[in-house]
Amino acid sequence: MHRFTRAILLTALLCLLSLPASAQGGRSAVKARNGMVVSSNYLASIVGTSILQSGGNAIDAAVAVGFTLAVVYPSAGNIGGGGFLVYHGADGENTSFNYREKAPLAATKTMYLDENGAIKNRSNSQGILSVGVPGSVAGLWLAHQRLGKLPWKDLVQPAVDLAEDGFPFSWAVENFSLSRRTRADADPVFEATAQVYMKNGQVGYTAGELFRQPDLAATLKRIRDNGKDGFYMGQTARLIADFMRENGGIITEEDLARYDAEEVALIHGTYRGYDVYSMAPPSSGGITLVQMLNILEGFDLKEMGLNSATYMHVVTEAMRRGYANRAQHLGDPDFNPNMPVDHLISKEYASELRRTISLNRASESDSSRFAAAFAYPESDETTHYSVMDGEGNAVSVTTTLESGYGSGIVVAGAGFLLNNEMGDFNARPGYTSTRGSVGTKPNQIAPEKRMLSSMTPTILARDGKPILLVGTPGGRTIINQVLQVILNFVDHGLDISVAVESPRFHHQWLPDITRVQRDGFSLDSIRLYEMMGHEYYYRGAWGNVNAIYFDVEDGIMHGAADSRGFDSKAVGY
Ligand code: DON
Repeated sequence: MHRFTRAILLTALLCLLSLPASAQGGRSAVKARNGMVVSSNYLASIVGTSILQSGGNAIDAAVAVGFTLAVVYPSAGNIGGGGFLVYHGADGENTSFNYREKAPLAATKTMYLDENGAIKNRSNSQGILSVGVPGSVAGLWLAHQRLGKLPWKDLVQPAVDLAEDGFPFSWAVENFSLSRRTRADADPVFEATAQVYMKNGQVGYTAGELFRQPDLAATLKRIRDNGKDGFYMGQTARLIADFMRENGGIITEEDLARYDAEEVALIHGTYRGYDVYSMAPPSSGGITLVQMLNILEGFDLKEMGLNSATYMHVVTEAMRRGYANRAQHLGDPDFNPNMPVDHLISKEYASELRRTISLNRASESDSSRFAAAFAYPESDETTHYSVMDGEGNAVSVTTTLESGYGSGIVVAGAGFLLNNEMGDFNARPGYTSTRGSVGTKPNQIAPEKRMLSSMTPTILARDGKPILLVGTPGGRTIINQVLQVILNFVDHGLDISVAVESPRFHHQWLPDITRVQRDGFSLDSIRLYEMMGHEYYYRGAWGNVNAIYFDVEDGIMHGAADSRGFDSKAVGY
């Protein structure tokens, strides 16, 4: 057994015994003084914490967590997808890294349409053509080059060990494994997936069985030894390009060689004395979040009471306006140089929007106002992790393959899953529907363009110190989930774990209906809310917020892992 795997298992044991590290999910926050990692998988949280314990900073730990999630949490952790990393140092420096996937060079605006202008066989979100050029390795590499402290190799090694030595197969992955052979029998593009996720490519794993990924380990070793080039050049790039060519895909070695992550300035807003730092386009998260907070700052939300009908009403109205603007204006800034970002996040514009809100009557989402809403289908995976080191440096990362397990396609010989992120583009230019389909120009497909995202990794700071790290999966619901955790924390003064657990609702302009967490709200509130003119429907709990609150008074970090997440854990020391 490798040195690092042994260390991980030892730390896991100590965590279970609560000595001296502590780890848990669920309702109470985990407290620690020296470092904290909250992620969707306990092994990843343990790896991150052990990097902090061995002298790494929050960026180092975030890099290690990112690679570990690609091994132990394959539904969303990835090297074949993309994401955003938001950083706020203890010294006040703040910045972010954009490693969203790009459309391949051969992509075109109408590449998914048949002769009638309809999408062919869901090809924008399923199958080999749904894959965008992956960004994760380039993003983690760039963040590490800029702000990391420990050697890169030490940060990739834990993931190599876990892929090579194996770890107990998770309940969460069992269903995916059990269904693979049928997919591979129906379509040979899934053959490598069956080889990785089934024993001998034939029999599904069940929870608790040792799961080894030798091809993934080999790919991770190339990344460990060659950095970003270990993925975008040489053997890994060749394996990807050959696989694409053999299976009707369009990503080439040139696409991979040209891919670059970038460091970008954060969206900055303020909310009741906090600085709000969140992701800029191609994420729609930061702008929409800040706009909604600006609108809501003009209401006494605490006095309304958490999840009272009036509270739900005004928050819904802020959501409706935020999401309408998101639909109209946002896309990849490299292709949309004139997005009115400053206007959208200004307090003045929020005041204008606030004046259009009645205190007792729902407004309507006017679908004729804009060309269209959003095209991509809902899906249930993506993952967020939050990291804080002993110096108070903070990292908030959201990363995704888009759907759970992305396209479900593993690159033969390379052992990792590819994303289906192309589905986040507006695939039918000009087509409008109140159900939320296609259209607006800023997010139409073009070669090397990044598709619009809702991922909203966010950090709230006060007096230059990071205080709250937050983010979640959930497609378009992400921005509203982050909004509600912030309101729960800032306005309602909830303990961070309760702020995370608290039930959520979601409105996204179109369709004009509110999704409400089943069994989470008083029926009296819901009836009054309905009487104000809001339509609603119930759904089971969604999202998986992994948050950290830092109490500057006593220097204690509070890690809160959402109990909605199957394997999520806060681990601190
Ligand atoms: O970038 C986005 O907004 C989506 N691809 C995220 C997908 C997602 O969160 C699905 N999961 N719950």
